[in-house]
Amino acid sequence: MRMYDIIKKKRDGGELSTEEIKYFVQGVTDGSIPDYQTSALCMAIYFKGMSVRETCDFTFAVRDSGDKLNFSEINGIRVDKHSTGGVGDKTSLVVAPVVASFGVKVAKMSGRGLGHTGGTIDKLEAITGFNTTLSDADFIKQVNDLGFAIVGQSRQFAPADKKLYALRDVTATVDSMPLIAASIMGKKLAADDDCIVLDVKTGSGSFMKTVNDSKALAKLMVDIGKSAGKKMVALITNMDRPLGYAIGNALEVIEAVETLNGHGPEDFTEVCMTLAGHMLSLAGKGTVKDCIKMARGAIADGSALAKFKETVKAQGGDVKLIEDVNNFEKSKHTYEVKSVKRGYICKMDTEAYGLASLALGAGRNTIEDKIDYSAGIILKKKTGDSVEEGEVIATLYSNNESAFEKAAQMLIDATEIQKKKPKEEPLVYCTVE
Ligand code: URA
Repeated sequence: MRMYDIIKKKRDGGELSTEEIKYFVQGVTDGSIPDYQTSALCMAIYFKGMSVRETCDFTFAVRDSGDKLNFSEINGIRVDKHSTGGVGDKTSLVVAPVVASFGVKVAKMSGRGLGHTGGTIDKLEAITGFNTTLSDADFIKQVNDLGFAIVGQSRQFAPADKKLYALRDVTATVDSMPLIAASIMGKKLAADDDCIVLDVKTGSGSFMKTVNDSKALAKLMVDIGKSAGKKMVALITNMDRPLGYAIGNALEVIEAVETLNGHGPEDFTEVCMTLAGHMLSLAGKGTVKDCIKMARGAIADGSALAKFKETVKAQGGDVKLIEDVNNFEKSKHTYEVKSVKRGYICKMDTEAYGLASLALGAGRNTIEDKIDYSAGIILKKKTGDSVEEGEVIATLYSNNESAFEKAAQMLIDATEIQKKKPKEEPLVYCTVE
């Protein structure tokens, strides 16, 4: 088999065989295929797409490219949730303890920030001492004891994806449906969960910009998961504006803790309760409607917050930060972004908000970059809100004062203000079963 022939076949719109896909993924994993040929095939896939059969083969080859977890020693049903990535998306910090508080097991493996999107592991590391690398034995023991443990993808999980993602990131081939599906599901299937709830983001802050594309991606991933024997459901949720009001690691942990305390922003709380409800329902705890009610109950009676505290303590994190979020270290500097005109916010370029947070120090431009955990943005206004000229629309936080001017301009450019109040968009567009 020759990589040249595989690239040519896909370039000309052909369907790759299972063997050709396996050959490609194997070659990416062992380094025998040079980056330029891998990139060329990604570009051919970007333009010509893949059939469902090809995408399933590709996903399974990515899954099989490295270690797989064995959760057979975990007692009970294991449920996971995965988001396709967004801005201000701290849902895992709320839904996992809610679900675990009902005895359903959440053995969670999460990622770091990617491009304009944040990563759950970076957020958790804003909690002093929080250890995101546990041995398999400790991870499984904690899930059995507490119902919830969370680690980063430090092992050799789906190494083919690591390589492919890095190349896609620099060759403008990230936003391809089969490539995203194989990347996400290849990693998810390397873990040993019974049920998976996918949160497929749609809009200006996500990789899929339209509801129709998001639905197609969701259907593809649900089909892949089902063909691997998993119970699956996907929700299409709104990422045309950041989720909640906080963007940036410590700021998002604070908002998640406030939500667990019952004082979270409405939009964020609703998305979390809907996701948790679907997770509980897939795990056999009742109808989605009843499970959403149960999830709200776990916030109201404090059991979800108690579960989060237990988890933080078990993983070495400083619980005092969770008991009183004022204990989080503040950034040295703050800056107020003011509206340049009067009217209603009718559009937010959410990706630009994510990039502004990155520019403040909340993310990495290169793998070696150090994160400023206190950096980020607190929004004062979101789509649909009225603003006066000169009114504060956001506060920026950073230890690097020189980053403010550029980030502030990015927010101003990313915020469209018109005279007419915009139509309200749903937070959850639909469910794909
Ligand atoms: N998240 C992933 O893990 N992979 C993608 O391709 C996109 C989002």
